[in-house]
Amino acid sequence: MSNKPLNGIKIIDFTHVQAGPACTQLLAWFGADVIKVERPGSGDVTRTQLQDIPNVDALYFTMLNSNKRSLTLDTKKPLGKEVLEKLIKESDVMVENFGPGALDRMGFTWARIQELNPKMILASVKGFSDGHHYEDLKVYENVAQCAGGAASTTGWWKGENSGPMISAAALGDSNTGMHLAIGILTAIIGRQQTGKGQKVAVSMQDSVLNLCRVKMRDQQRLDRLGYLEEYPQYPHETFSDVVPRGGNAGGGGQPGWILKCKGWETDPNAYIYFTVQGHAWAPICDALGKPEWKTDPAYMTPKARQPHITEIFATIEDWLKDKTKFEAVDILRKFDIPCAPVLSMKELLHDESLRASGSIAEVQHKTRGSYFTVGSPIKFSDMKPEITGSPLLGEHSDEVLAELGYTKEQIAEMHSKEVV
Ligand code: COA
Repeated sequence: MSNKPLNGIKIIDFTHVQAGPACTQLLAWFGADVIKVERPGSGDVTRTQLQDIPNVDALYFTMLNSNKRSLTLDTKKPLGKEVLEKLIKESDVMVENFGPGALDRMGFTWARIQELNPKMILASVKGFSDGHHYEDLKVYENVAQCAGGAASTTGWWKGENSGPMISAAALGDSNTGMHLAIGILTAIIGRQQTGKGQKVAVSMQDSVLNLCRVKMRDQQRLDRLGYLEEYPQYPHETFSDVVPRGGNAGGGGQPGWILKCKGWETDPNAYIYFTVQGHAWAPICDALGKPEWKTDPAYMTPKARQPHITEIFATIEDWLKDKTKFEAVDILRKFDIPCAPVLSMKELLHDESLRASGSIAEVQHKTRGSYFTVGSPIKFSDMKPEITGSPLLGEHSDEVLAELGYTKEQIAEMHSKEVV
């Protein structure tokens, strides 16, 4: 515990729901002292959202708030504001993801925060960036996916279900939190050089867009060429002037698709992703028992293959029909073909490799007992993040207030006035 790189960094975690908490949780794993400031009585809304055990913090909360301390504080009451001011003076970073203007309305403008502590780093998540014509909007995950280009480029391009599609991955929430963590660490290094803090702002729209970089690439290619050769629409269908949805096509120069394996009729995840990597064409032909394709001009180059890529995938599917997804990958891996089984959440939860690496971690919680969480995706040679249970609401209020110098009597008064 003692040699975590972020030991000594004190963070006021004024976050809720997912985007902010994902960021501060990551920093807590790496050693920061993260004090989650929550409204007395209710706390972060995710404590009670989608509860699976009555009166026990929901997994939504426990999986995003491990390794933190919880301080309840009504920051709209004068005494609560006074406590927050003290905390600001003694902390390195304050992270918040309230709706637009909420922190200002509470009296904690950036100017005021700097006045209290010029070294403070204020890190904010908002739906849209400052000055954006939608800057006043409150935003949740799916709103961000629509605003950031993910929804318009995900899904099917024709048929009954061809509208924009939301990804199940939290591109708007946790992804924005990860961007914010990078910003905070950069500002901490910047402060070592200048002695001054700064404001770090990340918008959910920008964070989604940052992951849609290749789709912005495609828009410009489309503007120039009028077609996109790696999309399933090419060459038999027409393109409009906007990047279309490409189903499960590979996003780069390597065509790929999700293919059915043995049992797909009853198992919703009996599929693999198969990539037709250009220079791996010969091994693909060998793996599929189609050596004649290696020298057939209609198959030899990526350009020659593209007009009948769906027929190639159909042939591979035929080869897959008597193999489970795991058997198929075990054969294809010997030929160095980039592929993977489509894994369900159940399979991931019980995956021995993920358990061994700490990517899936078992955690003890005071009232829930044991549960599983997604551990750190970042691995270090000299540090293994240990994941501890999330705090109960206000569990550390008295401890944190005492550290700030409040006496037992003052703390009791705050409780009686419902400030904490
Ligand atoms: N004590 C007293 N008041 C508190 C408090 C505390 N400890 N913590 C929060 N509040 C108040 C805020 O000051 C705010 O008051 P005000 O609106 O009267 O000024 C109020 O609680 C609620 O803030 P808000 O963040 O707007 O909550 P919401 O539930 O209406 O909206 C979001 C939720 C997520 C839509 C909104 O916070 C948002 O858009 N955040 C930015 C983008 C984001 O992070 N989205 C979610 C990603 S998971």
